[in-house]
Amino acid sequence: MRKPKTFNNSERFIEGWYWVMPSQNLRIGEVKPVTILGKNLVIYRGQNKQVVICDAYCPHMGAHLAEGKVEGNELRCFFHNWKFDSQGICVEIPCLYEPLPLKLKTWPTEEKYGMIWIWTGEATQQPLPFIPDVDQDEFDVTFGFHFFKNCHPNIVMINAIDAQHFNTIHQLPFEIIFDTEEYSPNTIIFRNTTDVRGDYSFKKLIRRISKRSITYNICYWYASTSIVTLGFDFFSLHIMFALRLIEGGKTEGRTILMMKKRKRILGKLFNQFVLWMLKLFGQNFVKGDNKIFKTMQFNFKTPIKADQSIVQLINHVEKQKPLTWGTWQLARSREVEAQENPNKWRDDLIND
Ligand code: FES
Ligand SMILES: [Fe+2]
Repeated sequence: MRKPKTFNNSERFIEGWYWVMPSQNLRIGEVKPVTILGKNLVIYRGQNKQVVICDAYCPHMGAHLAEGKVEGNELRCFFHNWKFDSQGICVEIPCLYEPLPLKLKTWPTEEKYGMIWIWTGEATQQPLPFIPDVDQDEFDVTFGFHFFKNCHPNIVMINAIDAQHFNTIHQLPFEIIFDTEEYSPNTIIFRNTTDVRGDYSFKKLIRRISKRSITYNICYWYASTSIVTLGFDFFSLHIMFALRLIEGGKTEGRTILMMKKRKRILGKLFNQFVLWMLKLFGQNFVKGDNKIFKTMQFNFKTPIKADQSIVQLINHVEKQKPLTWGTWQLARSREVEAQENPNKWRDDLIND
């Protein structure tokens, strides 16, 4: 297989929505520094409860704006007290009668699933990650784990569609074959329904929660956030894996466990119980995977038919808009640059 340009590349990520921090970690009037995909940013919450994310350094002289103060819905730099509104527009320079026409760069942001999210481009091209097959009702949400992995987010992501490893690592006694749908340029869904009728002791165990079949779907956004859906006869569970590429090609992530909201008190208790079980069971389930992630050096030299879903996901990644980790500028391959400017190296050599 040809080496992909974006997939598993420690210097690239796809333009899209990425998680920032849990909503509860940012109170009204608070300002904090954050580093997302290599970029230093500042996040604050105004009196109107709205979250604002902007570049970290003041356009006057470069003071870090997280040292500043939230005033109403605006942010005042600590150094010379210049003030910026929630659009980033400079609205006050204390020693001038009128502010200069300056703009601090701000980034699109939204809150959902108990989390603050950022869009890493100018204008949002997609809604926040959601599950296309599920009506967008409210969810009961519980945070799972906050974790770090020694490999690229894409590598963590493919685990959920790595058909062979379900048998070898997780010892599931049936073959998993996926149907694939590219739902949007940034979204791909893998679906599987497994018949649980049969004599294996595992199937007997599963039949206690689902008589006929279990649905296992994975929906990927930017190959960095995925939502796994486990569907039983009477209820469904959703596990969101929200990942981000950090320094050195590694992963920082969070899991968010979700179930459709239930109204009655018994329903609420049922959801709490199932989500709690899921957290407990999930931790055990991924033990084998974690061992692999620690030492693996991904090199997909010999794909076979059973790896087909992984190949599909890699191809899906390669078609999306790549940005450079750290600068968030459009990432361009060396070949394209060479084609666009074939004389560049010659120009560089001429010194007159
Ligand atoms: S550096 Fe921010 S006001 Fe001067
Ligand atoms: Fe796994």
